[in-house]
Amino acid sequence: MDVVLSDGSGFFLQYPKAQPRLRPLPQHQAPRAPAIGAMPGFLIHGAIPTPEEPSMYFSPERNQWFTERLFAHVRAGTTDQAAGMMEYDLSMYADPNIARQERERIFRRLPMMTLLSSQLPEAGDFVTVRLNETNVLVTRQPDGSVMAFVNACRHRGATVVTQESGKRRLFSCPYHGWSYAPDGKLKAISFRETFGQLDAPRDLVRLPVEERHGFIWIVEDPAGSIDIAAHLGPGMDRLLADYHLEQFFCYRTHELEFPQNWKVMLEGVLDGYHVSFVHGDTIKPYFYLNMMVIDDFGHHHVTGTPRRTIDTILDQPPGSKPLDDYAVFGNLVSPNTTFVLHPHHIEHWTLYQDTKDPGRCRVQLRILTRTRGHDERGEAIMAKNWRIAEAAIVNEDVPVGNSIQSSAGHPFGSPVLLGLNEVGNQVFHRAWRHYMGV
Ligand code: FES
Ligand SMILES: [Fe+2]
Repeated sequence: MDVVLSDGSGFFLQYPKAQPRLRPLPQHQAPRAPAIGAMPGFLIHGAIPTPEEPSMYFSPERNQWFTERLFAHVRAGTTDQAAGMMEYDLSMYADPNIARQERERIFRRLPMMTLLSSQLPEAGDFVTVRLNETNVLVTRQPDGSVMAFVNACRHRGATVVTQESGKRRLFSCPYHGWSYAPDGKLKAISFRETFGQLDAPRDLVRLPVEERHGFIWIVEDPAGSIDIAAHLGPGMDRLLADYHLEQFFCYRTHELEFPQNWKVMLEGVLDGYHVSFVHGDTIKPYFYLNMMVIDDFGHHHVTGTPRRTIDTILDQPPGSKPLDDYAVFGNLVSPNTTFVLHPHHIEHWTLYQDTKDPGRCRVQLRILTRTRGHDERGEAIMAKNWRIAEAAIVNEDVPVGNSIQSSAGHPFGSPVLLGLNEVGNQVFHRAWRHYMGV
C-alpha cells in the first residue's frame, strides 16, 4: 500500500509547534448548543472587524461567523447538534444489490470532483484517471476548454492512453495504431484500405464535463448531464468560490485501496467524535474534542473544529484574526468527496467503490498546495507530516473501519445509530438517501 498523508479523520497534524497550553474542558455530557443552521446570509452580530491579514480560505464574514460559533462552543464545552438521531442498517456497506444501485444512481449519474484545473494548464495537456467504473482521458483544448472521454479504443477497446499525464497532439492506440485527436476525433485507421469503410463515426466516447471552482468535474455516463452550480446549491457553490481552488496545485496524488466500503472510509474522515478514543496519543492533544460547528447546505457541508491553540485568541474580538491556524475545516462535497483545509495545504479525498466487492474501496487522495514546488525545508516538513499521519491512519483509523466492515457482513448487528453530535455524518447519510431514492 502507498503511504497516506492524513490520519483519516480529517485532523492533520500541523507543522511542529510547541505543545499548546491546554485548557481544562468540560467533556462530560455537553449541553445542547443553539440549533445548527446555515450561515445566516451576512447577518452577523456587530460590525465585522477587518482581520489583520486575510484568511487563506474564508471571506471576512464567514471568518467572523465561524469564530463566533467556535468561541461559544469552546467557552461552553458544547457542540453543534442535529435535530434528531439517525438510524441505519449496516447492510449499506455490504449488500451487493445496494452497491449496484449506487453505481446506477450515484456514481454514473452525479458529477465527480475529478482533477484540478491546474493539472492541465496548457492546450494539448492530458491526464488519465479512473472514475468508479471507467478509465477516462481528459484533454485541454486549443480554446482553453476541457474535454473528457472514455479511454477505450473504438476499434476493439484497448486503453488508448496508458500514460498518467503529458502533452500530445495525437493519441495512438498501442494495439493496432488507430489515432485520435485531443478532441476525440478518430484521425487515422492503420492499413485503412484493407480494414474497410466505417459505416458510423468511431470517435472516442465523450463524457459530460464542466470546469468550475478550479476543478474538472466529470459525469461517468456519456448520456448524462452536468450542472455543477445546481448540484452544489447556492450555499456550497458560494463557499467553494471563496476558497479560490483555482490557485492550488496538485502536490501529490496517492491511489489507495482499503478493505472497507467506500462510505465507511468517507465517514471516518467526516467524523470528529472518535478522536478521543482512536487517536489518544497522536491527534487528541491538539484539538478540542467532540466539538464541531457545521454549516449544513443540505447535501454538502463545511465543518470547523477548534484546535487547542484557539485559546490564545479567545480574548480578541471575533473575526480580528484569520481562523486558519486555530481550527481545522472539513468539507463534504457529496456524493464521494471530502476535503480538509489546513494552514499550508488541502487534503482532498475522493472515494470510489471496488466494483467487484462492496467490502473494498479505492481512494484518490490529493494534496493541494499553493505552490507547485517546495524548498528543501518545505519538503522535509511535508514528509514528516506524511509519516506521522500515515501511522495514524494505518494503525488507528483503518482497523476500526475494517471492524465496521466485518460487522456489516453479519446478519444481526443492525440497526446502528448516528447521534445528535454526529452532524457531519448525518448530512452525508441524508445526501446518500436522497441520491439513492430511499
Ligand atoms: S484496439 Fe485500438 S487500434 Fe485496435
Ligand atoms: Fe481518525
